Amino acid sequence: MAVVLYVPGPRAPWWLDHMRALLPEFDVRAWDEPGDRMDVDYAVVWKPPARGLKTFPNLKAIVSIGAGIDHVLADPELPKGIPIIRTTGFDLTQRMREYVTLHVLRLHRRLPDIEAAQPRREWLQLINPPAYERRVGVMGLGNLGADCAQTLATIGFDTAGWSRTAKSLDGVTCFSGEPDFDAFLGRTEILVNLLPLTPATDGILSKPLFDRLPEGAMIINAARGQHLVESDLLDALDSGRIAAATLDVFHQEPLPDDHPFWDHPKILITPHVASLIDPEAGGKAIAANLRLFHQGKPVPDLVDLEQGY
Ligand code: NAP
Ligand code: GLV
Repeated sequence: MAVVLYVPGPRAPWWLDHMRALLPEFDVRAWDEPGDRMDVDYAVVWKPPARGLKTFPNLKAIVSIGAGIDHVLADPELPKGIPIIRTTGFDLTQRMREYVTLHVLRLHRRLPDIEAAQPRREWLQLINPPAYERRVGVMGLGNLGADCAQTLATIGFDTAGWSRTAKSLDGVTCFSGEPDFDAFLGRTEILVNLLPLTPATDGILSKPLFDRLPEGAMIINAARGQHLVESDLLDALDSGRIAAATLDVFHQEPLPDDHPFWDHPKILITPHVASLIDPEAGGKAIAANLRLFHQGKPVPDLVDLEQGY
């Protein structure tokens, strides 16, 4: 049983070593040294090169090194019908919980204003509303969004969530589908995006959405860069419609040097680190899923290809 692994950049050897150690019964091969492509059964990948997966004609499953599978589906010549397994896990949820909590609190407590005041030696005593008067909304109530929404509710935020199908979560006002979208957005002062990237959500963070939020709302995008229409965000920040944005993900990563987001005073950029998968915990989850699949057992992280996430 052979597995081919693709991770771009300097972390590739690290991943290869870990996956070899975690899957001793599999022949784990580097993408650039795949041996006989005919006998590769599984591909474990993050942002694989376009048209690369079709060069392994006998793939039984593709494993995404990440919760999102958009980077696999983006391949214009992705072989059809091959099962895709995503990667989830306690560590991924924990990291996203930390990121979302940190950045919601940062915006809620107006930390950017306080940090800007320090070089001016200004004693900026801001009185914030307490969390129970701050209405936060999480788009996407899956593994990550549901956990983040419940964490924010536990801290005391007036928290709502929005998903495709109806949900019930302790302490969270749940909205679902297009009919509820206006009501969800209309009450949301800090919006957190944790949707998967699909044709239905591509470009969702755009002018029509910004116009449905209360004036001066703030946004946190920790899902995918393609959710955001960048020029619409710049216009909304300039007009004050949106007061601030925290962005972890971008159309092009790394964000190009000359991108206007870098210098924007109302944007905080984090380099796709909200919940980076690591070869320790993530590798174990991948190995466990591959074994289940290989043994013909149900794999909870098997993606519903019809739904696309
Ligand atoms: P998930 O478990 O698949 O949950 C997705 C949620 O989005 C579900 O609640 C789903 O609704 C909802 N949804 C999907 N399409 C929708 C639509 N058209 N309208 C309304 N709601 C919709 O995903 P997850 O594991 O929480 O991950 C979410 C995303 O986070 C990933 O796809 C990835 O892009 C991103 N991510 C980013 C990082 C990072 O470091 N920045 C790390 C990990 C993941 P239902 O519940 O009704 O199906
Ligand atoms: C990271 O972005 C992931 O999808 O896990």
